[in-house]
Amino acid sequence: MRTNEPGFRLGIIGTGIVGALHVQAARALPGVTVAAVCDIRADAAQAMARQAGAAAYTRHEDMLAREPLDGVIITAPHALHAQMTLAAAAAGVHVLVEKPMATSVADCTAMVEACDAAGVVLAVGHVVRFGAGARRAEAILRSGELGPVRAISHRRTSHYAKGSRPDWFFDPVMAGGGIVMNVGTHGLDRIQWLAGSAAESVHAHTWSRGGLEIETDAMGLVDLANGVKADFHLTSAPVPYTDETVVLCEQGSLRWSAPEGIWVSRGAAETLLAPPDEEPADAFTAQLADFTEACRTGRPPIVDGRYGRSVVATVLAVYESALSGRTESVTGGPHPLPGDLLRNSA
Ligand SMILES: NC(=O)c1ccc[n+]([C@@H]2O[C@H](COP(=O)([O-])OP(=O)(O)OC[C@H]3O[C@@H](n4cnc5c(N)ncnc54)[C@H](O)[C@@H]3O)[C@@H](O)[C@H]2O)c1
Repeated sequence: MRTNEPGFRLGIIGTGIVGALHVQAARALPGVTVAAVCDIRADAAQAMARQAGAAAYTRHEDMLAREPLDGVIITAPHALHAQMTLAAAAAGVHVLVEKPMATSVADCTAMVEACDAAGVVLAVGHVVRFGAGARRAEAILRSGELGPVRAISHRRTSHYAKGSRPDWFFDPVMAGGGIVMNVGTHGLDRIQWLAGSAAESVHAHTWSRGGLEIETDAMGLVDLANGVKADFHLTSAPVPYTDETVVLCEQGSLRWSAPEGIWVSRGAAETLLAPPDEEPADAFTAQLADFTEACRTGRPPIVDGRYGRSVVATVLAVYESALSGRTESVTGGPHPLPGDLLRNSA
């Protein structure tokens, strides 16, 4: 594996919508070069390669064999994340894989073990963590001024109909699920992260609009290991855009709304703490900075593979519960307390 000197040579696997955001992030980060990009769509790979001044490939195996890369970012369909991570680890290349980490707990475990064995970093792209708002929300909760967290409520809308996103998102095998696996991973991450604890069990209901094979709506209750209770509602219904998490604490509450900002309430007083993040691209840059720093120093990334696995395990417990009608345990655990909580609050 190459080190981070003189520059960090990055490869991108998947040159779609999010791949472009990662290229933009790399451009904003001194010392990082996009050296190669790969997509099964040759025209897409070549277009991004021209833009980034990189080499283009249509097979990630060829890119990994021919390019001396330090790290890769995997932004391909969900079911391909595991095999691509394993290939990168075998080539001794660090990995930042987009959320959701994979579509099964077994795949997540194989990814963690392969990267551990190869001595490479495995980071998972829960990019919401890296926004300024996220850091502000976390700081206020960790300061203890609102008292202990008791309950969390998360609501998110996302238009989920054919044509609203690339077709593979509607294929249950390739996507691993619908709104919960794709969009709900952000909310389930937020719940675990802000509660400071891993999800233990879930009672959920899912349904599908428009005859799609994947779920477009879901609601559920989550029990966390530290006693915090959470609920989540994800919908494709045509209601005004909502992406909001309310954290109820012993002495107040915090409301984090992506379009409106962060509010803190104590008694009758409500204070706007931070406006919405102006530049979502900045979060991708901060995430890439954390990844390259982890590769350079050997410290864990803020969101590592073991944590990424806990989010996938919670999504799968949602699906199991929706099927069984019962409360289901989050399997594959015990999942560690999100390691970043301690690091971020230090
Ligand atoms: N962090 C976020 O906020 C965020 C937002 C949207 C999507 N995502 C995630 O990013 C990932 C990609 O999503 P997207 O919206 O960019 O999808 P996309 O369809 O736009 O991009 C995926 C790309 O992967 C390519 N691809 C498919 N099979 C391949 C293979 N075998 N080898 C190489 N390339 C291959 C496709 O041709 C496509 O260009 C997903 O994991 C998704 O959940 C994250």
